[in-house]
Amino acid sequence: MKILKHVRREFSGYNILESGKRLLDRKPLQCSLYVTDHCNLDCAYCTEYDNSRPHPTLDDLKKWVRKIRELGTMRIALVGGEPLTHPNIVELVRYCRELGFATSLTTNGFLLTRKLVVQLEDAGLQVMQISVDRMTPSSITKKSFKTILPKLDYFRHSKISLHITGVICADTLPEAQAVLETGLSRGIPTEVRLVHADPLHRFRVDRGRREELERFIDSMIERKRRGEKIHTSEAILNYQRSLLRGEYVEWTCMAGYKLFFVSAQGKFWICSMVHTDKHIMDVTLDDLYANYHKKSCQEGCGVYCAVSASLLVEKPVRVLGQEIIARAKRLPSMLHPSSSPRINNPTSSGVTNPDGTHKMNGSTNSGPSADDCVTLREGT
Ligand SMILES: C[S@@+](CC[C@H](N)C(=O)[O-])C[C@H]1O[C@@H](n2cnc3c(N)ncnc32)[C@H](O)[C@@H]1O
Ligand code: SF4
Ligand code: SF4
Repeated sequence: MKILKHVRREFSGYNILESGKRLLDRKPLQCSLYVTDHCNLDCAYCTEYDNSRPHPTLDDLKKWVRKIRELGTMRIALVGGEPLTHPNIVELVRYCRELGFATSLTTNGFLLTRKLVVQLEDAGLQVMQISVDRMTPSSITKKSFKTILPKLDYFRHSKISLHITGVICADTLPEAQAVLETGLSRGIPTEVRLVHADPLHRFRVDRGRREELERFIDSMIERKRRGEKIHTSEAILNYQRSLLRGEYVEWTCMAGYKLFFVSAQGKFWICSMVHTDKHIMDVTLDDLYANYHKKSCQEGCGVYCAVSASLLVEKPVRVLGQEIIARAKRLPSMLHPSSSPRINNPTSSGVTNPDGTHKMNGSTNSGPSADDCVTLREGT
């Protein structure tokens, strides 16, 4: 019974039938919707916020979301700006769930309260990504465990599947290992990934030393292969290593087709970097299909969710196979937690808070997901 429970928990997200349909038909798998352009922070590497623009209304958001669903989209990722600054975020989540979307939300976590987590869970939110770059804030990014550690306790009994994602650049690299350990030691699927350039191909922050970055990505690949909860696929880790080495990677970008973005003004965007002026309400399935081709901007692309979805659609057997093998490796240590206490025991607390005061007691569901944009978890 115990083993069945663990197997079910590890693999329940693989809704093979529904995902399989999207791999074979011409409909989109995923849309990332900018709920707002507002943000309460100002990360130096980010170009995805603009506080001069008002929040879109709930009515507009609902209209766009209906249209996105009519196109056949299975999953919706609520992004921004900071989605929790939108006053109607809970209603929006509820509406997405009523329409049948698998629904995730990406947040810097600063506005999370115990009450809001309960409200989001009641509204049906399935997956939350909290972005954490460092152990303590810096002038480049304030997204640190110093703020987030105490909030992880809100998820102790929550059905929301939590994961943590950080950005690696010169400023965060010295703490990247600690960020990874802090998340993993609490049983939270965690990843840190290379900073990407802005739409004009400029890096807004120092990226860090190539050799060090490569060593760090290599260590994540190794840990992923050992079955640790690195929250991305091996394919994306390999992709990042190739980026660092300047190696050519064969892939066809499915952005604008299998996944697309909708701006906080309702505009259809191919991805977060490539924008169009077409309104989502005017987009047809033929328009989407027309974006099924290699793109001139593929080389060096850092839109990992798009790379991830593209690789999944192109090579589902390889990508899913690797993921299933990695997850299967977790099962023995789940059945004998003492043999690997820091990885699979969600309440373990191996790392002291950055302020040194206490150890956190966060816990999460450990639902399966391959990447924030292409989470394989399906709602219940
Ligand atoms: C644009 S933010 C929006 C949601 C929310 N404000 C947050 O920070 O989680 C979405 C994700 O993109 C990441 N991001 C923003 N700019 C980036 C960059 N230049 N390179 C890599 N990741 C970046 C953020 O760290 C965050 O994980
Ligand atoms: S919190 Fe998110 S949206 Fe805001 S500046 Fe940072 S990465 Fe950008
Ligand atoms: S290659 Fe990258 S930047 Fe270009 S459209 Fe695809 S996801 Fe966007």
